[in-house]
Amino acid sequence: MIEQLANSRILILGARGMLGTDLASEFSGTAELFLLDKEELDITNEVALKTQITALRPGLIINATGYTDVAGAERNRELAFNLNCEAVKHLVAAASEVEAAVIHFSTEYVFNGQAEDGYDEAAAVSPLNVYGESKAAGESFIKSYQRGYLIRSSWLYGQAPQRGKPRGLNFVDTIIKLASEQSLVKVVNDEWGKLTYTRDLAKAVKQLISGGYAPGIYHLVNETEATWYEIAQAVYRLKNITTPLAPISSAEYAGEVKRPARAVLINTKFPRLRPWPRALTDYLNIFTL
Ligand SMILES: NC(=O)c1ccc[n+]([C@@H]2O[C@H](COP(=O)([O-])OP(=O)(O)OC[C@H]3O[C@@H](n4cnc5c(N)ncnc54)[C@H](OP(=O)(O)O)[C@@H]3O)[C@@H](O)[C@H]2O)c1
Repeated sequence: MIEQLANSRILILGARGMLGTDLASEFSGTAELFLLDKEELDITNEVALKTQITALRPGLIINATGYTDVAGAERNRELAFNLNCEAVKHLVAAASEVEAAVIHFSTEYVFNGQAEDGYDEAAAVSPLNVYGESKAAGESFIKSYQRGYLIRSSWLYGQAPQRGKPRGLNFVDTIIKLASEQSLVKVVNDEWGKLTYTRDLAKAVKQLISGGYAPGIYHLVNETEATWYEIAQAVYRLKNITTPLAPISSAEYAGEVKRPARAVLINTKFPRLRPWPRALTDYLNIFTL
């Protein structure tokens, strides 16, 4: 849809978030880029959003914003829906006025995790918690927009802090930190997912757009699935950590939010991304706490 990246105007929203930061660097130099985050444009302000999009007239809008605090969403349902659903509706309306394509991100949390074989792009949504409900509701506006790309991904980590998370630390950095602070690190071993490096996801998004892929739903994830505990084991190996590590069940973890046990995204429409252990090795070689 945007074959000539070099001549296009691209607006990235949430450009200083964990994923937004990598999208901004991936697209830099390829197009005329406009990078905005909440300080410059609160996308839940419908008038400000429309005014900005009308003024900039981008050919492509990449929405990397999101209310991403899963536990917080249970207590702040309205805030989660305002950003993950209402703002998406207004974004699509404004994009449609200037005929801009929209890339929007969603999550494996739109599924209940009961499908043994995982979820391909055509699977019906079945969220278990408020975060998943708000993301599923937002998805519907992208699905019905003819220039809309809905990209689901999962278990993201990257160099930039995940700003929406209370401590801003991704899972990999959390494991390294806990191992330096505790005598035993306990990690859930009965939830499966596909750990995905934001740098790989950003590269795939650029490939999707420059490769002329049609609008629609895409599942862009590093392969293949693992449990949180298996990922922690890999972090330990790569960082030579010796602090004892123990597998626990999600019931023992005592989180108050219902989470899908096997929310495994299956990518059938795009070349598969590299395996997660290779991406993790790159990440840990590049960046350590
Ligand atoms: N993290 C994951 O594991 C994961 C997995 C699958 C899908 N996703 C999706 O990927 C997207 C990016 O996630 P992320 O982990 O990169 O999140 P993030 O680090 O929390 O980044 C989100 C960015 O959006 C900004 N933002 C928040 N409210 C805004 C508003 N009203 N107007 C404009 N900007 C606003 C945030 O700024 P402030 O910090 O100032 O609020 C932050 O810079 C989200 O749609 C998320 O649902 C994430």
